[in-house]
Amino acid sequence: MSDGVNAAKQAAGIASCDFVTSGMRVGLGTGSTVRYTVLELGRRMAEEGLEIEGVPTSEATAALARELGIPLLEWHQVSELHVTIDGADEFDPGFNLIKGGGGALTREKIVAQASAAMVVVTDPSKQVTKLGSFPLPVEVLQFGWEVTARHLGLLCPGEVSRRGGDEPYLTDNGGYILDCHFGATIVDPAGLETDVRGIAGVVEAGLFTGMADAIVIGSSAGVELLLKPGGRLGR
Ligand code: 5RP
Repeated sequence: MSDGVNAAKQAAGIASCDFVTSGMRVGLGTGSTVRYTVLELGRRMAEEGLEIEGVPTSEATAALARELGIPLLEWHQVSELHVTIDGADEFDPGFNLIKGGGGALTREKIVAQASAAMVVVTDPSKQVTKLGSFPLPVEVLQFGWEVTARHLGLLCPGEVSRRGGDEPYLTDNGGYILDCHFGATIVDPAGLETDVRGIAGVVEAGLFTGMADAIVIGSSAGVELLLKPGGRLGR
């Protein structure tokens, strides 16, 4: 990753912390951009008296949060989170996302679903007019994954490949990731999300529709904030 991209991710990650105030229960996303959010939340707790509790979207994020002293909640301790902050691999003008480049999409979606709002941290390279250039990650059960892949192939015009090939990548849930090469052809993200989730063996699709309320875009020029019109953080 170039220094410029890294700086952009850091700027977005830090700026997103402005959505967090003391007393909040916060969903902590996964990836190199939201890592900067988690680091900054840890810093504000240590140095500025911020008091929050978190729910992590991956074992990696849980480990980082523990290192930083961010208290983590179990699901039986929480019904709703105030906000989740997470990265994305692509976002379109309708605030639809492709996520799962880091393999954490199922837990990320569960945490986002349990949250009153979702803030996405990105850089300009993730902004597209139509989703799909980034291969859509789909988590599937190991059982019968070959047949699940064939059914996904009926929806996907390009290759459907198991991440890791013969040494398959395993998610925190023990699933496989199938990367579906749609190309920039996804005209109906919500419809495709429904169709993918309807295939037996699919655990979750890396399409997040109707979930993101704000997108924080870091770049060398500064930070841009997009608020979804009519969204849960809209003004
Ligand atoms: C992990 C994700 C990440 O949020 C997404 O891949 C973006 O990652 P990064 O911030 O490292 O570019 O969905 O499953």
